[in-house]
Amino acid sequence: MASHYNPRMNAETSSSPRPVASSQADPVDLAQFVDWLRAVAPYIHAFRNKTFVVGFGGELVSAGRLNTLVQDVALLQAMGIQIVLVHGSRPQVEEQMRLRNLSSQFARGLRITDAPALESAKEAAGEIRLDIEAAISQGLPNTPMAHARISVVSGNFVVARPVGIVDGVDHLHTGVVRKVDADSIRLSLANGKLVLLSPLGFSPTGEAFNLSMEDIAASTAIALRADKLIYITETPGVVDGDGSLLRELALDDATRLRETGTLPEEVEFYLRHACRACRGGVPRAHLIPFALDGSILIELFTHDGVGTMVSYENLESLREATADDVAGIVQLIEPLEADGTLVRRDRHQIEREVDHFSVIEHDGVLFGCVALYPYQRERIGEMACLTVAPEAQGSGDGERLLKRIEQRARARGLNRIFVLTTRTEHWFLKRGFVKASVDDLPEDRRRLYNWQRKSLVLIKQL
Ligand SMILES: CC(C)(COP(=O)(O)OP(=O)(O)OC[C@H]1O[C@@H](n2cnc3c(N)ncnc32)[C@H](O)[C@@H]1OP(=O)(O)O)[C@@H](O)C(=O)NCCC(=O)NCCS
Repeated sequence: MASHYNPRMNAETSSSPRPVASSQADPVDLAQFVDWLRAVAPYIHAFRNKTFVVGFGGELVSAGRLNTLVQDVALLQAMGIQIVLVHGSRPQVEEQMRLRNLSSQFARGLRITDAPALESAKEAAGEIRLDIEAAISQGLPNTPMAHARISVVSGNFVVARPVGIVDGVDHLHTGVVRKVDADSIRLSLANGKLVLLSPLGFSPTGEAFNLSMEDIAASTAIALRADKLIYITETPGVVDGDGSLLRELALDDATRLRETGTLPEEVEFYLRHACRACRGGVPRAHLIPFALDGSILIELFTHDGVGTMVSYENLESLREATADDVAGIVQLIEPLEADGTLVRRDRHQIEREVDHFSVIEHDGVLFGCVALYPYQRERIGEMACLTVAPEAQGSGDGERLLKRIEQRARARGLNRIFVLTTRTEHWFLKRGFVKASVDDLPEDRRRLYNWQRKSLVLIKQL
């Protein structure tokens, strides 16, 4: 995307930004640019007005990734996503303690925050917060932050309580989240503000407590009933024994994996809070690496993403379509109608007949559809509009849609299904269809057969 950035987009010389791709560019580049933007469109529609809580450690700041993260977050906000940012500060607290010649004390991996350590934590959090606010306030022309104008709200949104004495060890000012003031955060989000939370909380007695970013982010996501919790971490995500990244984990599988005790400590910690958020009603929690530039954009706007996503339900759901799916169905089949693979269907007809469709949805976006038109008298059904989005093809979704249509047909007492195809003959032959002729079609369908298109008729016995 960076290569398409238009250096001429200058706030001083033009009040309305120019398009990001120059019309002088190579036509192939332009076509790719348009394809890319269109591919992102379903996600933009799906994510508008959704609430995402994004938590990141102080390690991201130390690695010099703050500016790019803020730019990506500004872009998400401009797309209508409501964002709560939660920052950590572990390395910065360490640094502050080193400067004061203090040494950190831990018990069972948890910091013991005495009074001087609390001062270090306050100092570190204050410094990072100012850095984040400064980064968010940028608006230089010719940068992705031009025209961003984001206003940030921080405050005493988190009520804390002390961890207390565990195994005889008093953790002093180390705390855990007791409550999040979701109403106030929601109000700020509704007013178009970006909410920024630091890893500190306050008790009703006025004491400050040192909290973990992971705890605040998960608790805030649960309290807000956020749509996503995203941890941007120093790890690549969750990997299995062979070192392969686990892209999707159902909550139960993630819980079982944690119980094996084989995960690295930091991954276990993120995953623990991700699971807690999912159990608390957050539909998806993501662990993505900050080492990859733009990882949050890749995770959100591509089918496979870049890290690990934990979900409390089976992520890819195959279900019957509803009226809300009409736009998604049209978007799926339009390119295939344009290239002649599918016959063009009247949009009103799709709207009227949407209950004939089954769809596959992945994280709120449709990736596949198919329709069944029964001819009850002849006990045969037409399978139509079978489509899987190009980026999701080859992973069995086509087959799952076919199976669903077979189930639906059987449930209606049909004993055969047919399909008319010009380009996908072999896919159907491999799945039990046999060649037939136009004469084998039910009478009403035969009359509508388009002799110019010369589609093949394939029939499958159920
Ligand atoms: C046909 C289609 C629905 C299959 O979806 P899918 O999710 O990729 O299907 P699956 O993952 O279940 O199957 C993939 C297999 O089908 C094969 N395949 C895909 N398109 C094919 C075609 N036009 N002809 C023959 N085989 C095809 C793939 O090569 C792959 O083979 P493999 O398993 O041996 O590697 C999808 O390719 C599509 O949407 N195509 C465009 C629309 C279309 O032609 N629809 C049918 C209109 S009648």
